[in-house]
Amino acid sequence: MTINTQAKRLVSAKTTPPLAPTAFRDALGRFATGITVMTTHDDEEGHYGVTATSFSSLSLDPPLVQWSLRNEAYSLPVFLRAQRFAVNILAADQEEVSRRFATADVDRFADLDLDEGIVELPLIKGAAAWIECSLETTLPGGDHTILVGRVLRARTFPEPPLLHWRGDYLPIDEDARQPRGTA
Ligand SMILES: Cc1cc2nc3c(=O)[nH]c(=O)nc-3n(C[C@H](O)[C@H](O)[C@H](O)COP(=O)(O)O)c2cc1C
Repeated sequence: MTINTQAKRLVSAKTTPPLAPTAFRDALGRFATGITVMTTHDDEEGHYGVTATSFSSLSLDPPLVQWSLRNEAYSLPVFLRAQRFAVNILAADQEEVSRRFATADVDRFADLDLDEGIVELPLIKGAAAWIECSLETTLPGGDHTILVGRVLRARTFPEPPLLHWRGDYLPIDEDARQPRGTA
């Protein structure tokens, strides 16, 4: 029996109640994450960026990372055209930056301190880390598109990260600002 046939049998089993969308979302929200702003630069749009928590590591050799973007997102064609992106891992004091890059009709880059990365990639100063990538490939992922990046350069800073859990930002304990063993 193929895995697919097994899966179909499971789904059609009378004992499997239908998945409630709220239960699915609630369960996903229990997975605490950091927060990234994915930035790029495109000839038509100039600097562009979006807030994303779907980021994760994928491969060490070759060095790959992944994240997913809604198929309907305005920014998807921008990232596909640009063929590169920077992962800005936000720092604990960058909650406003996270909200801003998830808001429509605002100038997301207004008054932001930027550094310039590879091929004009905008890098947000004050972040916990920057990971600069070329777009290696894309994959279909339901109502999202998975973007796989090949890591070209990575830099880290001492700032503690901004955390997200159950649909909200998690305050970071002052003690957590000091990496273990350095106090
Ligand atoms: C904390 C947080 C995490 C998010 N993560 C994602 C994500 O991983 N993928 C995604 O498509 N949208 C995500 N969003 C929503 C986008 O940031 C938002 O829809 C944004 O407006 C998209 O930009 P665009 O309309 O310019 O394409 C997230 C929003 C927030 C607040």
